[in-house]
Amino acid sequence: MAARYQIAGSSSAEISASVETGIRTGGLAPGDALPAVRALAAALAVSPATVAKAYQELRQRGLVATAGRHGTRIRPRPPLATRRAALMPPPLPGARDLSAGQPDSRLLPPLGPHLGLLAAEIGAPSGYAATPVLPALAAAARDRLAADGVPAEEITVTGGALDGIERLLAAHLRPGDAVAVEDPGWANLLDLIAALGLCPIGVPVDDEGPSEPGVRAALAAGARALVVTSRAQNPTGAAVSAERAGALRTLLAGRADLLLIEDDHAAELAGVPLHPLAGATPAWAFVRSVSKPYGPDLRLAVLTGDEATVARVAGRARVGAGWVSTVLQRLVLALWQDPATTDLVRRAGESYERRRDGLVAALAALGVAAHGRTGINVWVPVPDETLAVTALRDAGWSVAPGALHRIAAAPGVRITVSSLDESDLAPLAAAVARVVRPAPTGFTA
Ligand SMILES: Cc1ncc(COP(=O)(O)O)c(C=O)c1O
Repeated sequence: MAARYQIAGSSSAEISASVETGIRTGGLAPGDALPAVRALAAALAVSPATVAKAYQELRQRGLVATAGRHGTRIRPRPPLATRRAALMPPPLPGARDLSAGQPDSRLLPPLGPHLGLLAAEIGAPSGYAATPVLPALAAAARDRLAADGVPAEEITVTGGALDGIERLLAAHLRPGDAVAVEDPGWANLLDLIAALGLCPIGVPVDDEGPSEPGVRAALAAGARALVVTSRAQNPTGAAVSAERAGALRTLLAGRADLLLIEDDHAAELAGVPLHPLAGATPAWAFVRSVSKPYGPDLRLAVLTGDEATVARVAGRARVGAGWVSTVLQRLVLALWQDPATTDLVRRAGESYERRRDGLVAALAALGVAAHGRTGINVWVPVPDETLAVTALRDAGWSVAPGALHRIAAAPGVRITVSSLDESDLAPLAAAVARVVRPAPTGFTA
């Protein structure tokens, strides 16, 4: 435990509240170990069961994780408003930030002109929405999804992909249930799963998507839901291939005990065809965010699925947040219908592809294997993440440590390529090569 923070309390509620305060105020940092149950119980003069209960409650809320003999530690990004995780120190002044997984703001459509047009036609203020999804948006979404082979009869709208996934998991699963996720996978999804008190089961992923034996093993281990990233898998760039989709569809066919969630966040940017799994299981959902092609600040995703699954998500939203503002829905519809925006998104996709392929090729030329088939990230396996992140930071490049993204997968770093220029590729590849294959030490002739 960090000696600077003393956990206090005489009941499990007080002990867990004390740990929470420590995290919030920075006395306990991500990665810090909590004392062993018996040691803390002795120090606080309470029974070990009281401390164990406090730790269990913190675990179910995603604030801490227990990893066998490594004990209980503060999770990398606990769901509390804190400073940026200690695992992701801010880039040094002057360093390039390639750690954020953001699209290039120069390649996002400007919203001003569309907001101007909307202002002219929006009419009288609306009251409580009579239809939570604008019929014109639903029709356009249905057409776009059908063109990609996704049967989209039922449509609802959520506040982004992760909001949709949270609503799906909360509607179908209970704390303690297991969720199969790609490993390495999207850090925010791992954080969400922890915050919901669910148990992640890692499924190995290669360039063609989650491995079939990995999904099979996760099902055998009792997974109640499976989340698959269709394209631009974060962090590896994998995209589900036709062959992998076929194998997974066969494996999942008719599994009534499993909720299948597909996350197609790259959408129009993906640059490779979609091979959906939609409909392979009776309970399924397909979520497509507008964040990457049109801008994360729009906070909108369309969600389709079987009737019962979509009804659960839409019904739960109705008794909570209500709906996604029709102002935002109109804005997204306007962007979808604008030929100049369609052209910009196409060019953005091509630009990301050039930067990704350029970096992977520059690394390959130096003998470094990297992954980045689609999307805005390149994943580089490294022997030691901490050393790699620190050495790259010292060389002027801030990258994300794989620890945020993985459960049992081998170490790596994630490099977001979206802001790279052509002239960056060679020096960045050289810096990465130095950390992956350090020059031999000792005397040379
Ligand atoms: C795998 C994955 N899904 C979805 C998203 C987008 O999520 P949201 O729609 O919540 O912005 C991201 C963004 O990085 C992502 O990496």
